[in-house]
Amino acid sequence: MFSYMDSEKAHHHSLNMLSRFGQNPVGHRVISSVYHAPELPIHVFGKLFHHPLGLAAGFDKKAQALTAWPALGFSWMEYGGITRYPQDGNPKPRMFRADSEQALVNRMGFNNPGALAMRDSLNQRKARGKWPNTPVVANIGRSKKVTNENAADDFSSSLELLWDYADMFVLNVSSPNTPGLRDLQRGDGLAKVINSCSNLRDKKSVNKPLILKFSPDESNDNLISSAEIALSNGINGFVATNTTISRPVPNNSRSRSAFAESGGLSGRPINKRALEVVNLLYDSTGGSVPIIGVGGIDSADVAWEMVQSGASLLQLYSALVFKGPSVVSEIVKGLKKKVKIEGFVNIEEAVGYNHH
Ligand SMILES: Cc1cc2nc3c(=O)[nH]c(=O)nc-3n(C[C@H](O)[C@H](O)[C@H](O)COP(=O)(O)O)c2cc1C
Repeated sequence: MFSYMDSEKAHHHSLNMLSRFGQNPVGHRVISSVYHAPELPIHVFGKLFHHPLGLAAGFDKKAQALTAWPALGFSWMEYGGITRYPQDGNPKPRMFRADSEQALVNRMGFNNPGALAMRDSLNQRKARGKWPNTPVVANIGRSKKVTNENAADDFSSSLELLWDYADMFVLNVSSPNTPGLRDLQRGDGLAKVINSCSNLRDKKSVNKPLILKFSPDESNDNLISSAEIALSNGINGFVATNTTISRPVPNNSRSRSAFAESGGLSGRPINKRALEVVNLLYDSTGGSVPIIGVGGIDSADVAWEMVQSGASLLQLYSALVFKGPSVVSEIVKGLKKKVKIEGFVNIEEAVGYNHH
């Protein structure tokens, strides 16, 4: 119990350190000299990424260490999930480690300051010039107190507030920790959410990508039909996947108690299904739509499999917890080697290669 209580505290502690040290010029240089990742450029969503690997949503919910992430080697980052209204999230403890499986169970429940407060803090940050040169993505979820009937407005209001503070937006209808949210992954509910966001985008002078994040727990048939609905309503890409409510067989009693907690499982055990979903989406769209692969990426081998399965961009969260920041440059260096050894001109050529 004690160590479970510590998971979230440890997280806040490292984030605060990173936010303080990693965002001043000296600290940034020091961290960068240790964790620098090589260039492995790729064009996705009309943007140049230094390499494919970014920070997954949920780690830096409030974007408090925004300019520190490039120093740790990430080529892009996703903040959030942000909801229209501020929320405390679920009672603590709500984050649990299963070390022997390198997995986490969390039921944070979108604890966040709300889109209005986020806009103000990001506005101040921009005014102080504390904005990275690398792509920034906002993850938007539904407020807990808003029903699914009113979800479309809730999503598009957050999008409106955050519009100037991200290069791309992920619509998160796949967190298992907001009751009913996952119902928005299908049919009319999904169409309405996306429509209201793409209508808002149409009114803007700059066109920014809208990306849909899927759960690994949807059936393959549902994923295929939801992807079709999403694309016909203006979605530009997919994230596969969010955490799962399923559980592997635990290795020991500590993992057994972590897995007994309700919430979403992330890390190594979800990689297999995340890969399946990336493959499925790549196949069903004929490789015409960018896919962001996330779920259990913790080595260059796993990352390479994701790329060959069809992911143009990659993200990780759990591996940062279990392996520390050096995992970022380790993965990018490994990917660069693979590109060379396998005889590709660049990493773009390797995307979806398993399907060719
Ligand atoms: C504590 C925690 C909080 C998360 N919060 C969010 C979130 O707010 N929005 C979201 O889309 N995904 C969230 N995720 C899911 C991750 O972005 C990612 O999809 C998932 O953890 C799988 O990647 P991983 O195996 O590398 O951790 C969260 C994950 C964890 C562990």
